Amino acid sequence: MSVPNAIERVLLDEETIAVRVRELAAQISADYADSDGLVLVGVLKGAFIFMADLARRLQVAHHVDFIALSSYNRGTTSTGAVRLIMDTRASVAGRHVLVIEDILDTGYTLDYLVRTFRARNPASLRTCILISKPERRQVEVQVDYLGFEIPNEWVVGYGLDYADRFRTLPYIGVLKREVYK
Ligand code: PRP
Repeated sequence: MSVPNAIERVLLDEETIAVRVRELAAQISADYADSDGLVLVGVLKGAFIFMADLARRLQVAHHVDFIALSSYNRGTTSTGAVRLIMDTRASVAGRHVLVIEDILDTGYTLDYLVRTFRARNPASLRTCILISKPERRQVEVQVDYLGFEIPNEWVVGYGLDYADRFRTLPYIGVLKREVYK
């Protein structure tokens, strides 16, 4: 597949992502092997591709559900305020919940998610993140499964966007600075 002009370089190619997703799925499957199943909660929009690939590799029974959030003032004077746009369809009370995110940046979104779900009395709560940018962290958050740590660059593809573009690139690429500066 050709690389769009807006992409400076491919950071994580399809094969690298696929190998790591298989490893994560194996780890999660082993960890939940003795459970009666779990509910995967994908955070829209970004998590939809990662979650689809991960879920199809799991060897444990699971349901899928989704939640959509929006944050205020991202990238400016962020206060970390997060707004719930769409909640999960089913209740998570008494269930083993695994929150699936594409990227962990400041941490405000995941912090909100963990606090929100904890208050709903799940049987257990863990998080699975594909990409983390540790340099950007503003709050400490619970990360149970992590795909990759990357430097502080704007990445797109495999669910990640810039202005809602590039989400369906099959790899993760670094956006050219001139595109978003
Ligand atoms: C991204 C990502 C996380 C959040 C992480 O979502 O999917 O939900 O940002 O950032 P944080 O750690 O600074 O809170 P985004 O708001 O870009 O929405 P999208 O998933 O619809 O693209």
